[in-house]
Amino acid sequence: MLKSAFGTDRQGKAVEVYTLSNAKGTEAKIATLGAILVSWNFKDKNGVVRDVVLGYDDAADYLKGTCYFGATIGRSSNRIAGGKIVINGVDYQLEQNDGDNNLHSGSNGMHAVNWDVDAVSENSITLKYLSADGEQDFPGNMTVKLTYTLSDDDELTINYEAVSDKDTVANFTNHSYFNLGGHDSGDIFGQKLKIYADAFNPVTPTGSIPTGELRLVEGTPFDFREFKEIGKDADADYDQLSYTGGYDHNFVLDDKKEVRIMAEAICEETGIHLYGYTDCPGVQLYASNFVNGEKGKGGAVYNIHQAFCLESQYFPDSINNPAFETPLLKAGDVYKSTTIYKLALD
Ligand code: GLA
Repeated sequence: MLKSAFGTDRQGKAVEVYTLSNAKGTEAKIATLGAILVSWNFKDKNGVVRDVVLGYDDAADYLKGTCYFGATIGRSSNRIAGGKIVINGVDYQLEQNDGDNNLHSGSNGMHAVNWDVDAVSENSITLKYLSADGEQDFPGNMTVKLTYTLSDDDELTINYEAVSDKDTVANFTNHSYFNLGGHDSGDIFGQKLKIYADAFNPVTPTGSIPTGELRLVEGTPFDFREFKEIGKDADADYDQLSYTGGYDHNFVLDDKKEVRIMAEAICEETGIHLYGYTDCPGVQLYASNFVNGEKGKGGAVYNIHQAFCLESQYFPDSINNPAFETPLLKAGDVYKSTTIYKLALD
């Protein structure tokens, strides 16, 4: 297992990057900071190695950045209305870092902390983080373990496990920005996407909080049930796209509680095919609407619509919406979740 220096965290402690590799020569680099997927190198149909995720060259840039490139988001991914939650009758006010709302657990979320290395092998790493009672304003001491495993089949499996000593929120995701043409190849609107969802969550005109409605995708720009170019309907005159400046919505997966397919994407130029699987109830499609002039890896500059995210999760603000499956983790219970991204040339 290759290990290299990657700068320091906010406390000045060393951040390291570990390289997972498989028999085919595919490599995925994972930083201890934020348990971030820094790069994923895969040989395309022409034999050219492409790094299919956006990112930065060192820890300092990740700590400065506001895009959450490749990061592990926790305890709570996506938005919580007003940053307010009530657990067992007690009100908690979380950081309001996105207008009035809490986004991705606030500025001190698990994307911004340095995780401990629990175990490593050639193709897998387990990172561990102990989040203290009151950290990010959430109740409960929470221990989180996260394992990335790269199989010889080019599957990158992310296993999350968390336990808390008080009832709290557990809703983890990975915020990788995919560009199947390569991280520095520009616009993704020509790449094709398929999402295994019949419905999505419309959001409020401001603040992007789900209204509670589950709207069928049929007849809307959100219909990705068959492969469609991401850009095809992205600029359609449709209220939900104008509220959010493009695709930035949760899609409703079927109600199976097991790992099943959530989405696929294809880039014809490179032949790279991404498959996504999860046991989560939803997946957020985010088309990098807010990325603007970000200086990324190896001198690349990333702009709007140069990547897409498929963030598996509980529905946004589900902690406040009794109609949605709850991300509430009971004290002593074990939160477990699995998301798999797979690359292929088929
Ligand atoms: C998520 C959100 C977006 C945006 C990005 C990060 O995908 O839904 O609105 O905040 O994270 O920039």
